[in-house]
Amino acid sequence: MLDRIQIQRIVERQGEEIILHEHMRIERTSYQHGSVTTFAHSIRVACLSIWLADRMHLWDRVDQRALVRSALLHDYFLYDWHEWDNGTHRLHGLTHGQTALLNASRDFQLGGVERDSIARHMFPLTPIPPKYLEGYIVSLADKISATRETLSPTRFKRHKRYARHSRRFRMSRA
Ligand SMILES: [Fe+2]
Ligand SMILES: [Fe+2]
Repeated sequence: MLDRIQIQRIVERQGEEIILHEHMRIERTSYQHGSVTTFAHSIRVACLSIWLADRMHLWDRVDQRALVRSALLHDYFLYDWHEWDNGTHRLHGLTHGQTALLNASRDFQLGGVERDSIARHMFPLTPIPPKYLEGYIVSLADKISATRETLSPTRFKRHKRYARHSRRFRMSRA
């Protein structure tokens, strides 16, 4: 079973191209839930996706690289959603998967699993379910992470610790 550090190393290795991309600077300054940035949320979703796949013994059915990249890009909409759609957040919930896919397709070479998992991660709020197991894992990890980040203030401190860890591993050139 993978431990926390091993999981972080997998995310850093498989997600390096994305984590180091200049547009990730936008995610670092956009807040997702509470004081958690979209960047920290995406790292958390990627780590949790790996943890879920590992604990459910899915490695013979899951593409690890596609899983990490889908998780890191699932909210790659590149704006602060609190300042969008007149504060209703209704349209954001329905549309940001497609926006993330458009941005991600512009900045990275994506495979079919990645494209589908990013676009459909908001299922069942959006009606079309993911096509691949990786998409279900990202969607589940996203919901768990979002719930924790929204409800538990003490969790936010973990992100700060992880942000320090990230800098130590030179995940940021910002
Ligand atoms: Fe999302
Ligand atoms: Fe998310």
